[in-house]
Amino acid sequence: MKKGRMICFVALLGVLAACHSPGNEEERRVENLLSQMTLEEKIGQMNQLSYEARDVDKLEQGVRKGEIGSLLNIIDPQEINRMQKLAMEESRLGIPLIIGRDVIHGFKTIFPIPLGQAASFNPQMVEQGAKIAAAEARSIGVTWTFAPMLDISRDSRWGRIAESLGEDPFLAARLGAAMVKGFQGESLAGSTSIAACVKHFVGYGAAEGGRDYNSTNIPPHLMRNVYLPPFESAVKAGAATLMTSFNDNDGIPASGNGFLLKDVLRSEWGFDGFVVSDWASMAEMIAHGYAADGKEVADISANAGVDMEMVSATYINHLPALIKEGKVSQTVVDDAVKNILRIKFRLGLFENPYVNSAATSVLYADEHLQAARQAAVQSAVLLKNDNAVLPLSLKQRIAIIGPMADAPHEQLGTWVFDGEKEHTVTPVKALNTMYAQVSYKYEPALAYSRDLNKENFQKAIAAVRQADVAVVFLGEESILSGEAHSLADINLIGVQSELLKAVKSVGKPVVLVVMAGRALTIERDLPYADAILYNFHPGTMGGSAIWDLLFGKENPSGKLPITFVRHVGQIPMYYNHNNTGRPARDGHITGWKDIPVEAWQTSLGNTSHYLDYGKDPLFPFGYGLSYSSFDYSNLTLSSNQLKPGGTIEVAVTLTNSSDVDGTEVVQLYTQDVVGSIVRPVRELKGFQRVCLKGGESKQVTFILTADDLAFWGKDMTLRAEPGAFNLWVGGDSNATLKSKFELIN
Ligand code: GLC
Repeated sequence: MKKGRMICFVALLGVLAACHSPGNEEERRVENLLSQMTLEEKIGQMNQLSYEARDVDKLEQGVRKGEIGSLLNIIDPQEINRMQKLAMEESRLGIPLIIGRDVIHGFKTIFPIPLGQAASFNPQMVEQGAKIAAAEARSIGVTWTFAPMLDISRDSRWGRIAESLGEDPFLAARLGAAMVKGFQGESLAGSTSIAACVKHFVGYGAAEGGRDYNSTNIPPHLMRNVYLPPFESAVKAGAATLMTSFNDNDGIPASGNGFLLKDVLRSEWGFDGFVVSDWASMAEMIAHGYAADGKEVADISANAGVDMEMVSATYINHLPALIKEGKVSQTVVDDAVKNILRIKFRLGLFENPYVNSAATSVLYADEHLQAARQAAVQSAVLLKNDNAVLPLSLKQRIAIIGPMADAPHEQLGTWVFDGEKEHTVTPVKALNTMYAQVSYKYEPALAYSRDLNKENFQKAIAAVRQADVAVVFLGEESILSGEAHSLADINLIGVQSELLKAVKSVGKPVVLVVMAGRALTIERDLPYADAILYNFHPGTMGGSAIWDLLFGKENPSGKLPITFVRHVGQIPMYYNHNNTGRPARDGHITGWKDIPVEAWQTSLGNTSHYLDYGKDPLFPFGYGLSYSSFDYSNLTLSSNQLKPGGTIEVAVTLTNSSDVDGTEVVQLYTQDVVGSIVRPVRELKGFQRVCLKGGESKQVTFILTADDLAFWGKDMTLRAEPGAFNLWVGGDSNATLKSKFELIN
């Protein structure tokens, strides 16, 4: 064939290939289906309703008429198939439903709450947990989860911090992307994949006062540098959907924020999935005082870029008129419907709309339970271990005390719609099954965490007297964290601290095991516990994990994903804070009792600290102990200058100076010393879980690039600014092993 014709032939092949690349084939299918749809059918796809048994007749009719595009909270596989059959065979165009459910940290097999999973600093483990949750959920017909929740929060008064991945955008971005990959697998059409839904877009975790649903006041730079990055990371990881948040930020409710939903999400990030509102968050713009009525709600949200409305039904009721009046264009509706259809095609729902209920159940599969146990092991944080009280010996006689020692419902934590407490392995249950040879006496002393009845304290004391060690299980019932469950006082609730003190008064070693949905203020409890193992509600297998850790079969490796404050009045207190013009220094008083009488006005240091609680938290971000001892040395940089497009290799020697094999989460922090806007005193830029045998040393390396240092500066552009940088590597955000480098133009 002549060269000229060969070039044409190859070009033609290219064009044909392009026409039939999966992306174009998908778009062809979307456009083709859209072209057949009536306006009512299009608006029907934008309408999601909750499955309530009492409304089944109405729901069936709506599905038949193509007025419903999605159902949530339907989990019976037969019922899902029945409703899907109505959509596929009795609606005019046979468009399948997408079935949504809150599968937040497991479907049936419950993993630690996300705040706990964040303590693992282990993206692979987090991805595995999401993969297992997806397999269980899809096996019964759920094809869409409302997770991961990537709201950055710096406030443990906020009940939903339990669902978050903590205070740091770098950690949340990596773990959030891992969750998306776990839920969605290699292909959304996979039989074990479900669509992720990154939420709550955006800034919900900055609720003023830590009070849920409250207003947020996040300025543009903070929005760009802290609250948006985890969502961008999840979108780049291929997240199929996003959910708008309840909060108004700077006076604009998220379900009406076109800048975020169109300029940022679509134009900047190239997101091509769909956006769903949160539960009635659209209609709540009336309560916000941002819309006068349902019709204005539909107008605002449709034009802002919300594709699907969760349960408040303003689209189905008002969009036809709004389009007729020209207030909402046909293009807006078409774009929304295309986004929804695109995900339904990707999920393979047109080809495989039904649940194969004859398939072997994967619910609570043993490998799922084992993965949940391992997740609980890695999510636990050892906060204190004086005199090496831990690990315990199997020969010790143990007094098991406290309301969380055998609390199968509470141990699962918040947002557990489908996990069953009957499957929970509590600490008491685990001891009986896994460590049957251990001698123990169990005395809860309190029936539940809020129980104020102290009459059984004496029984607890008596049990401790006959034991070698007391293990006291305290914390929060599940209901005390999660949505709408904010607390102004985050001490151990009720009389739990009194119980701990009473147990310690016997004079035996005391191990405190906490199960909670937040970073409680436990400073007042510290003197009465020789060791503290902190678990953010550890899920189905938490009991097994806890004893494996307490007996040393497993070595704690968790690190705090959230700062533990000394007093609730210090909130918000977080590691990546600005320095201020008057940074507090060591040496200031840390309690009002230290103030001299008639102290001179300026004698206490005019810097940013509290007279009563000083400048420091109780435990910093990234903190966590191990049974091993890890030492850091020989911090070296491949260069003291980072050039544009270049890299710096950061190397450190990590030594396990104990004889106990263990895992350390090595953390890398940088500081941009001078910027066009004020920069945080430290920012996490890398972390690695490193396993070392007793006595072993290993060089750990990180690669830094200029992109890693980029931030949204004064001119609101994203770039790294030349200048001096500090760098630390260590086992928490107070790392002292320090170096410097310069970023040059
Ligand atoms: C809730 C939550 C959201 C959840 C949705 C559906 O109010 O804010 O996170 O996914 O409604 O249950």
